[in-house]
Amino acid sequence: MGNVYVFDHPLIQHKMGILRDKNTSTKDFRELTREISMMMTYEATRSLPLQDVEVETPIRKATVKMLKGEDIAIVPILRAGLGMVDGMQALVPNAKVGHIGVYRDPDTHKPIEYYCKLPSDIASRQVFVVDPMLATGGSAVASIDFIKERGGKNIIFMCLIAAPEGIDFLQSKHPDADIFIAAKDSHLNENAYIVPGLGDAGDRLFGTK
Ligand code: PRP
Ligand code: URA
Repeated sequence: MGNVYVFDHPLIQHKMGILRDKNTSTKDFRELTREISMMMTYEATRSLPLQDVEVETPIRKATVKMLKGEDIAIVPILRAGLGMVDGMQALVPNAKVGHIGVYRDPDTHKPIEYYCKLPSDIASRQVFVVDPMLATGGSAVASIDFIKERGGKNIIFMCLIAAPEGIDFLQSKHPDADIFIAAKDSHLNENAYIVPGLGDAGDRLFGTK
């Protein structure tokens, strides 16, 4: 079974508090999402493999540790996942970016897929699937299904807020995937929104409501 990591760093928790506030502007929401994603990436990349590399400092030759290859893929789930990419790329600028388009049917809350474009070498990359919200888990499960159908193997799911229902569903369908979360919330309401959550992440990021 994959591990679930909930970040309790004070800076992340503080920024999450502002993000949740319904009076936070679209501009601030976007900036906070970027900053929190960057801080989460710092932790979530902790176990990336390193290799020895020879460099020459101004003093002498030295063997240093550097990342082994450019082997990361970031896959945002459209559209809200896009808000997390910039902050992640600030730390891993050579990561390739794939896109998966999934939205929840407003009545059934089931995921509807509409787009998928992944790096051709997805099978050999450490894949970070990102979306601010893990509610029922339907969108995350469908997206990881897509990635596995195309050969993806090493998959991490990273989100800002998760409901227990979504974590359980994701772990039941993809027990190999680790899950990184900034906050684990209480439950889903009758509209499958996370409580207390932050509302509709896509609308708040892009100002569409
Ligand atoms: C939101 C969110 C997730 C999904 C989570 O997207 O960004 O993708 O809902 O819900 P689930 O875990 O129950 O599947 P939404 O469907 O609102 O689409 P959008 O990003 O285009 O706004
Ligand atoms: N999607 C969102 O954007 N927010 C929720 O609370 C649930 C699904």
